[in-house]
Parts: sequence; structure tokens; C-alpha cells
Amino acid sequence: MPPAQIVVVHPATAMRGHVRPPGDKSISHRYALLAALADGESTITGYSTGADCASTLECLRGLGVEIEERPRDAAGRHLRITGRGLGGLRAPAGALDAGNSGSTMRMLAGILAAHPFATTITGDESLQGRPMRRIVVPLERMGARIDSRNGRPPLTIHGLSTPTAVDYQTEVPSAQVKSAVLLAGLHAEGRTSVQEALPTRDHTERALAEFGVRVERLGGNTVAVQGRQPLRGRTLAVPGDMSAAAFWLAAGASLSGSEIVMTNVGLNPTRTGVIDVVRRLGGRIDLGEARADHHGEPVGTVTVSYGEVGHAEVTPDEVPGVIDELPVLAALATHGGELKVTGAQELRVKESDRIASLADGIRRMGGEIEEFADGFHIHGRRRLAGGEVDAKHDHRLAMAFAIAALGAEGPTTIHGAEAAAVSYPEFFGVLDSLRA
Ligand code: S3P
Repeated sequence: MPPAQIVVVHPATAMRGHVRPPGDKSISHRYALLAALADGESTITGYSTGADCASTLECLRGLGVEIEERPRDAAGRHLRITGRGLGGLRAPAGALDAGNSGSTMRMLAGILAAHPFATTITGDESLQGRPMRRIVVPLERMGARIDSRNGRPPLTIHGLSTPTAVDYQTEVPSAQVKSAVLLAGLHAEGRTSVQEALPTRDHTERALAEFGVRVERLGGNTVAVQGRQPLRGRTLAVPGDMSAAAFWLAAGASLSGSEIVMTNVGLNPTRTGVIDVVRRLGGRIDLGEARADHHGEPVGTVTVSYGEVGHAEVTPDEVPGVIDELPVLAALATHGGELKVTGAQELRVKESDRIASLADGIRRMGGEIEEFADGFHIHGRRRLAGGEVDAKHDHRLAMAFAIAALGAEGPTTIHGAEAAAVSYPEFFGVLDSLRA
């Protein structure tokens, strides 16, 4: 846990400039995990500088994976990972710490379900409150045994060398659950498939293909992998994180006279839902030509400029595509717009209860927000006053409150601002550099 930090964000007149967003958090985790399972060495550039992705590396080191760090550059962290081959991880000496990272815990659990030793994975207070039954059920069906505290961490995973292949239908659309099952299935005899009610981010599928694994997309949101396929070490560059870029999309769209150009942004269609919603809220967004050659992930330049903030609705079928961006979309709506979100009950089990924490912060800033069990409705009729808010140890809230604060009448004091470092340690520095 980094030391507590209080940041005061003053209103801005306009936001202008260039940003290179940090390496994508979701893709960084996957590249590191797959590199650990591969034969031979992998080189990863643009690896996320956030604490969550550092947790994945520490857990992998605990499992005997050799990771060498080269000097960082503008793209992010530069790593060389020596793979241990499929099924080759070593029993750790003690419990592994996933910190604040649900992705680390859930995806690693899938891999460890396929190793014949017991591993305990724990995490910080927020992670210890998060639901794990969603991975425990399928991984136990595949033959592992997982002890938990009533479906919550810490988890002790008693794996086996050859899990049973399954055809699994997830209870909630979740890329982490899908990935955990596919990663366990990669070690099984036979074919494992996962079906979801709504499509979720497909970085695992794309990353597996890059490492030389054949992945079948069967239609109807079903994906399958044949077990026992070896992975080949690779040289990979992580694209910029759309979920981090989303803060600048909202900042650029919300203040008159603003224009922000972002380069090297990951444009995977399972992640660009936020662009549609910002446009519906009035923001002007221009997409430079997307390059589809970035190791299976499309990447491009995104320019956002101000448009009068209007009214939009996010419907339940859209939610998995914008789940991480809902707090900052709410922040954008406070700049004179309106946003209604339903079908987003998953927000209640993220790094904090994001519906309750968002509503609390927006009200403390003088805003109007209705809370539902599965969403919220923000009315940005009157300008926020500013005030004192608490990020509740949640990185996305710390940053979303900062974007809302730009349009307020007075300053906003954000308690728990250190949480931003979970995904975007450079965030507050970039925020200041963009003030026109
Ligand atoms: C992620 C999937 C989403 C998302 C999280 C990252 C991933 O979570 O909210 O920030 O990298 O697969 P769920 O799988 O729980 O929906």
C-alpha cells in the first residue's frame, strides 16, 4: 500500500495537449502470464507501470519465473521473461500477494488449478472482499480443489497436473472468469469451451494466438481451446490503455476549447464502447487510422475535443464493454449533461462498491445522482461546487473525481488519491500538464 495522498484539484478552463496513455493493464497481465508458460524467452515493452501489473510479476517470481527488468522508456516497463513451459511453474515458498488486483488473482488461479501443488493467493483488504465463487465453481469442476473464506480470498488452490476439459457457461459475463477457465483448459486433455451471455474483452484469446495457440471462436460468444498446445516465447509491445485514455476523453469532451491528442491507444473493439458513449454525450472524437498489426491488437491515434455535453443512456447489453469507464463517464455527465446506467450491478463488487462510492463523492461535490441497485442516474443540471471526497481505495474513482473537479466552481480535495497508482501512477502529473 503506498502512503496516503491527498490531492487538491482546481477547476480548469480548458485541457489541451498530447498524451501517450500507459500500457494496457489487461494486456500486460496476460502477456506476463503467458510468457511465464511459454517455452523460451519473451520480451515485453510498454508493460503497465501500475501496481496491479507489478503484483502479477511478483506472484510469477514466487512461482519460480525469472523476470529481468530493463530500463523503462516512454512506453513503460521493459521486461524479459524466461518461460517455464506449460505446467512448469514451481511451488511457491509462501503465500502469493495479488495486492489490489482481481485480474491477477482470478487468472493466476486458473493456471494454478493446473499445477499439482497447493498455492495460497491473498490480497489487500479490497481484494479480500471480492467474489471468487465465480472462478472456484468452474475450476473445481475441472478437478482442482479451492479453499476460500466463504467464496472470498484468500484462496488456496490445490491443483492437479491434468485438469478435466469442460464446456462452461459463465454466470456473469467476465473476461477474468473466461480467462481463468481457458488458462486451466490449456493444460487439460481435450477441448475446453466458455460461453458467455454477453461478449467481454478478448485479450486472452488474442494473446494466446500470438503465443502460437490455436483458439476457436465458435459464435454465440463461445470460445474454445484445445489443451496441451505449447506456447512459444515472443517479443511483444503492449498498446496504450483505453481505460486510462478514457479519463482524457472525458476531460477533453467536457471543457470548451479543449483538444487532447492520444497516441498508441489500444482500439480493440471490446474496449472502445467508451468512445461511443462519449460521442453520445456530445464529445467530438476523431480516430486516426487503426493499425491492426500490433501483435493482434489494433492500435491508433485518438483525438478528442469539446462538444456541448448532452444526455445519454448506457443499456445493460453495453455494460461489459464500458464497465471500467462508467465512473469517468459519470464524471463527464456532471459537466452539464445527464447519464443513466442500468444493468451494472457488477460495479458493486469492483475495487469498491463503485455505485455507492461514486454517489457519495458526486453528492459531496454538490452534484445530483440517483442510485439504483444496478446503476445510477446523474443529472448535471447545475455546476458542481467542489468539495471533499474519498476515493475509497479505488483507482478509477480517484481519477474520475479529478475529472469531475475540473468543471466545478471551487477546488476539490481527493482523499485516497494514491489509489491512482494501481493502474496509472502518472495520472495527476499528466492532468496538470494538460491545463491550458
Ligand atoms: C478485466 C476484466 C473486467 C474489468 C477489469 C479487468 C480483465 O473484470 O473490470 O478491470 O482484464 O479481464 P471482470 O472480468 O470481473 O468483468
